[in-house]
Amino acid sequence: KIKAVIFDLDGVIVDTAKYHYLAWKSLADQLGIPFSERENENLKGISRMDSLNFILSLGDVQYMSQDDKMKLAISKNLHYLELITDLNREDILPGTLEWIQECKDNNIKIALGSASKNARRILESLDLIDQFDVIIDGTNTTKTKPDPQVFELAAKGLGVKASESVVIEDAYKGLEAAKNGGFYSIGIGDPEILNIADINLRSLSDADMNILEKL
Ligand code: G6P
Ligand code: MG
Repeated sequence: KIKAVIFDLDGVIVDTAKYHYLAWKSLADQLGIPFSERENENLKGISRMDSLNFILSLGDVQYMSQDDKMKLAISKNLHYLELITDLNREDILPGTLEWIQECKDNNIKIALGSASKNARRILESLDLIDQFDVIIDGTNTTKTKPDPQVFELAAKGLGVKASESVVIEDAYKGLEAAKNGGFYSIGIGDPEILNIADINLRSLSDADMNILEKL
């Protein structure tokens, strides 16, 4: 029986992926590194530093000091934060509020499991921060998806087992993390790409919680 739902943030609750892309794109342009929206898929669910290293690997960058990498990561993040200054409740993706409400009505606990270090700030902008029983984000973790650590910490915080929890993810690596930890999963997006999810939906608005009975 499902006792908890663990939501990813970017791409599940709010469509911030486009802003992450714009900020990485302008950094890549600055460095003369070709970077397309298709390559951006690889950055979903992974940490800021791993994202930067991925972009550098697309260019001819042979070596860069940790210090210089840090500066680039900081400048990308400042640009990203500028792009999301106006984020508000209207940016919550369709179906999210209904799912949260249904969890509450059915006594199912909810947690956030995100790689982002901006997660709390974003949840505040969306006025959702008080809805979560537990929030685990990039500031609480040492390992990144596909390692299940972020979801394990969330389950531990809620006092539930992995096998009693379902993870909702838009990233392949996030679904891998769920699988690696023994969690059920719902993939939001293209079912061909997210083919390891237990349930596939295009959007959370395509189903209500009854769909969990399939698990
Ligand atoms: C999420 C996004 C990634 C992003 C990561 C870190 O998982 O899907 O694209 O790189 O969070 O985000 P941050 O806000 O800490 O840079
Ligand atoms: Mg995501």
